Amino acid sequence: MTGRELVERAEAAAARAYAPYSNYFVGASLLLKDGSLVDGVNVENAAYPLGVCAERTAIAKAASEGVRPGEIEAIGITASPCGGCRQWLYEFRIDRVTFRNSEGEIVSYTPAELLPDTWELD
Ligand code: THU
Repeated sequence: MTGRELVERAEAAAARAYAPYSNYFVGASLLLKDGSLVDGVNVENAAYPLGVCAERTAIAKAASEGVRPGEIEAIGITASPCGGCRQWLYEFRIDRVTFRNSEGEIVSYTPAELLPDTWELD
């Protein structure tokens, strides 16, 4: 599955976002190394800071099913990932991160490119 196809899947998933406060609908689709796909959307809350980004929803769904760092091949996102999500992408060692940049072009990076000199616990 190409990065473009993954972004298109994320764009379809974004229609299911729960974003009544921002009306900014985000989708994220994971391609696992076993070939399976996991979608996520942003899920907002009336207590605004409690909302969850689409990328984190998708990764938390996968992790809840037992997926661990190194087992996710790629993620497609409808927009550039926020700083906090970049740390999550790095944690799960996703090989390839693809999204539409502000010009609408499909671009791909590694998590380390998106978050250079990353903090690590050890
Ligand atoms: N959002 C995401 O889902 N992912 C990001 O990487 C950036 C922001 C969501 C959070 C909130 O529901 C909405 O976009 C507006 O900030």
